[in-house]
Amino acid sequence: MSDKLKVGILGGTGMVGQRFISLLENHPWFEVTVIAASPRSAGKTYEEAVGDRWKMDTPMPEAVKKIVVHNVNEVEEVAKDVDFVFSAVDMSKDEIKAIEEAYAKTETPVVSNNSAHRWTPDVPMVVPEINPEHMKVIEYQKKRLGTTRGFVAVKPNCSIQSYAPVLTAWKEFEPYEVVATTYQAISGAGKTFKDWPEMVENVIPYIGGEEEKSEKEPLRIWGHIDEAKGEIVPADDVKITCQCIRVPVLNGHTAAVFVKFKKQPTKEQLVNALREFSGLPQELKLPSAPEHFIQVMEEDDRPQVKLDVDYENGMGVSVGRIREDSIYDWKFIGLSHNTVRGAAGGAVLCAELLKAQGYITKK
Ligand SMILES: NC(=O)c1ccc[n+]([C@@H]2O[C@H](COP(=O)([O-])OP(=O)(O)OC[C@H]3O[C@@H](n4cnc5c(N)ncnc54)[C@H](OP(=O)(O)O)[C@@H]3O)[C@@H](O)[C@H]2O)c1
Repeated sequence: MSDKLKVGILGGTGMVGQRFISLLENHPWFEVTVIAASPRSAGKTYEEAVGDRWKMDTPMPEAVKKIVVHNVNEVEEVAKDVDFVFSAVDMSKDEIKAIEEAYAKTETPVVSNNSAHRWTPDVPMVVPEINPEHMKVIEYQKKRLGTTRGFVAVKPNCSIQSYAPVLTAWKEFEPYEVVATTYQAISGAGKTFKDWPEMVENVIPYIGGEEEKSEKEPLRIWGHIDEAKGEIVPADDVKITCQCIRVPVLNGHTAAVFVKFKKQPTKEQLVNALREFSGLPQELKLPSAPEHFIQVMEEDDRPQVKLDVDYENGMGVSVGRIREDSIYDWKFIGLSHNTVRGAAGGAVLCAELLKAQGYITKK
């Protein structure tokens, strides 16, 4: 029998679910044994349930094709055969909150891609290179839920991955005012050009709820645990304002960012801080950790989505055009892969961190 941890994918038939399935093919620690989706897919094999909706560049892994899909709502049935689950279901926020806690209460850890629990005070929202210590708040959450090993942990929104890691690497220069515009790919809405032909040759200046997430979520990631209350307190020393725009790109969110610093850095200091930035995933050599989280590009026309989105298998961030600004102090362009680092890949790295920290074990 395999020593790998058995994992279930909630919402496994969707865009993010498919990315989980692809990333976990041949994973050294985790093996997909259960897939769950809506009642529409339940009872069908994974291959039948997905049908012509397979959206990945690589073929559907053979190992999952014949798995019979469960109904996400049959919590006990899904939870009994897995060590933990990834969640990528698309339901209402309240339904997601309830169902993720229901899984946690069956003593099944949930690593979620959804936004429903991102502001639950005792749920850690983690980018493993930035705030791995926030996982400690799980102890307080388990007390609230009355569990011994079940909990919910989440990763942040895809939009912030192109600039929050950069600002973190520059922390010593104390960034305090940030203006960001994100140019976001259509896969972030679970779509391809086939499903969303209106996006061909188009730009839509609105993504529901995205600007608030882009402005607020970095503050929670830079926050600290209040030990007395058992919750994460967001940072309050940085202000971010953001515009989020949908552009005709399949994969890859670009951000154009202006920053003011309390301590003035030189360009060399900014570049070195990015090149040297690494965190616990690199130290622990977690299987999905990029070797170099952030690459700095010197060419004037980089990073480009077509050339750079797959940097470090989609787990790294590419930064270019770092230059002084006439109103703000410095400006730059960041790029990250929204369904890899920004969604399923970011969640897989969180699960690897949780395993390394002892929070996810065999049942
Ligand atoms: N796409 C991204 O890059 C991205 C990034 C960050 C966060 N997210 C979030 O991740 C979640 C999934 O996104 P997605 O793009 O993968 O969506 P999607 O392609 O529409 O997939 C949705 C999944 O949820 C299931 N589902 C839908 N309604 C359900 C119901 N009433 N009960 C149970 N299961 C249901 C679907 O099952 P069926 O196939 O059976 O319908 C499918 O497996 C969303 O909450 C989204 O906001 C997405």
